[in-house]
Amino acid sequence: MSQGKFITFEGIDGAGKTTQIEALHAFLRDSGIEVVRTREPGGTPLGEKIRGLLLHEDMDETAETLLFFASRAQHIRDVILPALARGAWVLSDRFTDATYAYQVGGKGCSAQSVLQLEAMVQKGFGPDKTVLFDIDPESAAKRLALSRTADRFEVQGTDFFSRVRKAYLERAAREPERFVVLDASAAPEVITRELLEKAKGWL
Ligand code: TYD
Repeated sequence: MSQGKFITFEGIDGAGKTTQIEALHAFLRDSGIEVVRTREPGGTPLGEKIRGLLLHEDMDETAETLLFFASRAQHIRDVILPALARGAWVLSDRFTDATYAYQVGGKGCSAQSVLQLEAMVQKGFGPDKTVLFDIDPESAAKRLALSRTADRFEVQGTDFFSRVRKAYLERAAREPERFVVLDASAAPEVITRELLEKAKGWL
């Protein structure tokens, strides 16, 4: 059985990732591919407990970064690698690009430290493709306000999300082969069409 593909989805809070991940999931499933849909932080029983801490407990920024990687280590071992090995495709709502964007870009943590943690936890493993939903922080905030109560990250202001967005775009520019950047301010059906067009090229 051939190795599956690992696809990650990124963007600032309120970029509208969920609807698009669902659309890609349905498309791949209809193409006869086994799909595992997952998320970070989370994706495993331990990871979901860590997620609860990350989203709701006030904590030191180093502790925060370490917890994201703790969740990730478990996720890679228990969910992502086994799925890829049996030929399934893994769709993850966020992965390590989020740590560079939020903890390094947004909060000013050391990129060098994150690089070391990435090497320790991932040992060279990473996404085959990453879809970045790009949107300006004001539009994203409006969308979020309509949908739910904010968690510890979502209460941050537009300056924070501007830094996160910039960090994402810089990463995308450095790895154009891996990243697909979509304009998340477009109508959902337009974004879906563009996403599925790209995905056809990955089959
Ligand atoms: P997400 O699952 O997108 O939130 P929701 O389900 O509420 O839409 O992500 C949870 C939050 O965690 C989000 O604000 C981004 C943040 N995050 C980081 O700061 N660093 C990381 O490495 C990851 C994976 C997420």
